[in-house]
Amino acid sequence: MDPITTLTLRAPDDWHVHLRDGPMLKAVVWHTIKQFRRALVMPNLTPPVLTADDVHAYRAEIQDATFPTFEPLMTIKITDRTTPEIVRAAREAGAVAGKLYPEGVTTNSEDGVRSFWDLRPVFCAMRDCGMILSLHAETPGVFVMDREANFLHQYVSPLAVSLPGLRIVVEHATSAAAVRLVDEHPNVGCTITPHHLYLTLDDVVGGALNPHAFCKPIAKTHRDRDELVKAAISGHPRIFLGTDSAPHVIVKKECASGCAGVFCAPVALETVAEVFDRHSVLHRMEHFVAEAGAKFYGLPLNTGQITLRRETWRVPEDLQGVRPFMAGKELAWKSRSL
Ligand code: NCD
Ligand code: ZN
Repeated sequence: MDPITTLTLRAPDDWHVHLRDGPMLKAVVWHTIKQFRRALVMPNLTPPVLTADDVHAYRAEIQDATFPTFEPLMTIKITDRTTPEIVRAAREAGAVAGKLYPEGVTTNSEDGVRSFWDLRPVFCAMRDCGMILSLHAETPGVFVMDREANFLHQYVSPLAVSLPGLRIVVEHATSAAAVRLVDEHPNVGCTITPHHLYLTLDDVVGGALNPHAFCKPIAKTHRDRDELVKAAISGHPRIFLGTDSAPHVIVKKECASGCAGVFCAPVALETVAEVFDRHSVLHRMEHFVAEAGAKFYGLPLNTGQITLRRETWRVPEDLQGVRPFMAGKELAWKSRSL
């Protein structure tokens, strides 16, 4: 049979992206809006998005830099100082999720949560007003390869069981344990990034140190990576694309104390298509990139379509001072702009 040469999909959503602010926002946002109709915008700015007022201000800044056809889905950062009143006001302001970072686990998480269980009233308020709890699922201080599995076991499972009405998303799942946990709890979903469908720890430190493959949570074993691929292509109702595209200028990656984050937005759909193609399941890609997430969030499916063509192209080495995922490599699919 001839290989499929074009792929037309419902307009996709990105369920986890760092659009940043100021000049970086202007430099990177195009790569998101050309492929995604909506994107869940992470709140880890400095200063962070904490309240309804911050949501209004950040949304206005994004809207100023984009077109009305793109809908930023707003989040607030949950900290130890978040209250049920803050949650309710943020929900009224249109925030669809509250993002919780444990203290110190990733970029701009110095103000992250120290006392997870003290936030129970906040979690209840989120449940009651229909706000998703979005988790950076890593326990600080645990061995880096075990942080995700530890957090799932210590916090996510018990919370999912004790508040079955709260919808929880384990962000950027990197382990077989995360996929298993999603399967066990009907109120838990997870996002998977394009790069975690490719990378293992070997790509980061197995040869010469590669800071451009360094992100949090760190890419793990071959078995974990293969389980993530299986989960992404499986058509699971609660597993969906969140790129976690996290741009940092090259000088902040290629240095001591380099920042965590992979800038994958410029190649997001193309790299995902390559994975689905390799497994001969391109027909399931629409579910992963444009349907499962919207259903979990309780939002309408997008109208409109995007087309990808089988067409070899080389990814640029540098885009406005940021090195994209797959820089310098050839990809087999090319996405048209929405
Ligand atoms: C993200 C960033 O740079 O903001 N970095 C990353 O490695 N993924 C933060 C995050 O999502 O952990
Ligand atoms: Zn992220």
